[in-house]
Amino acid sequence: MRKHFFSGIQPSGRLHIGNYFGAIRQWISLQDSYEPVFGIVDLHGMTVRYDPKDMQVRVLDAAASYLAAGLDPEKSIIMLQSLVPEHVELAWILNCITPMGRLSRIPTFKEKVRQNPDNVNMGLFGYPVLMAADILLYKSEIVPVGEDQVPHLEFTREMARRFNSIFSETFQEPAEVLSNGAKIVGTDGINKMSKSLDNCIYLDDTDKEISKKLASAMTDPARKRRDDPGDPDVCNIFSYHKVFSTPEEIAQCAEGCRTAGIGCVDCKKIVAAHIQETVAPIRERRKELLARPSDVRDLLKSGADRARPIAQETRNEVREKIGTKLD
Ligand code: TRP
Repeated sequence: MRKHFFSGIQPSGRLHIGNYFGAIRQWISLQDSYEPVFGIVDLHGMTVRYDPKDMQVRVLDAAASYLAAGLDPEKSIIMLQSLVPEHVELAWILNCITPMGRLSRIPTFKEKVRQNPDNVNMGLFGYPVLMAADILLYKSEIVPVGEDQVPHLEFTREMARRFNSIFSETFQEPAEVLSNGAKIVGTDGINKMSKSLDNCIYLDDTDKEISKKLASAMTDPARKRRDDPGDPDVCNIFSYHKVFSTPEEIAQCAEGCRTAGIGCVDCKKIVAAHIQETVAPIRERRKELLARPSDVRDLLKSGADRARPIAQETRNEVREKIGTKLD
């Protein structure tokens, strides 16, 4: 039987090719050796002010995006976190052994307080506790996450140790598996692709949008005219080639750039075609899924039905350890 692990999907935002080559492809590859639980973490999404009507849309959108990108509901359990209330129960139990001082030092909390100074709520403070509950509930050995989540994983390991030392050996300490796939630089040529920087190629961009974004994307800044030779190693478009193009095209473009044999416009066209080939089936599949929202909803419900017995087994063990089991 494949072991489980939990990883959380925020019900927000569109996915871009940086997410795809960073996290999603790694998740897809983990589906064979584990039975992962991918939860759309709506309970975490409530820690900042939100519009209830909007939440429905965001949840379906996130589910459709990840399914379209290749998460397979046969191999993975894709569920809505709030449909498995054991997450909340374990979070509460962990709350009762969490020192407030420890939580207040978590960098993501300090950052959120800076961003939302007028809504510093208990949920926000306890965000890492709920995340620890998500992870420990499925006895995760590994948790694939981005680098920004490492402090939360450290906290989770601490909570596993603390629980074990107070109530006897129950949880093992989960290790983070960093999604350090290709770091895709944004179309600005400087920063990592990031929604807030408006430098992304999204998985639902049209062919036209992709061409347009690439046409205006930065190349080697020293190559000012068509006849100037360039340096592919400092060119952002070349970094895209390395991810998307064939070995021959990569060699041709590198050589062509150094000798001014190929211009940036043509070089961009080659990579644009490949990005379009990658994005098009994802975009279409996402559209199909969103045209049948009740199917997506059913999938999240049946995912929760599969996750619940796993969560309940741990929950029962925990109740026994903490002395609240009645029989
Ligand atoms: N905090 C994570 C993020 O912002 C989402 C998340 C919630 C998560 N619970 C989790 C990630 C459990 C991994 C494991 O991306």
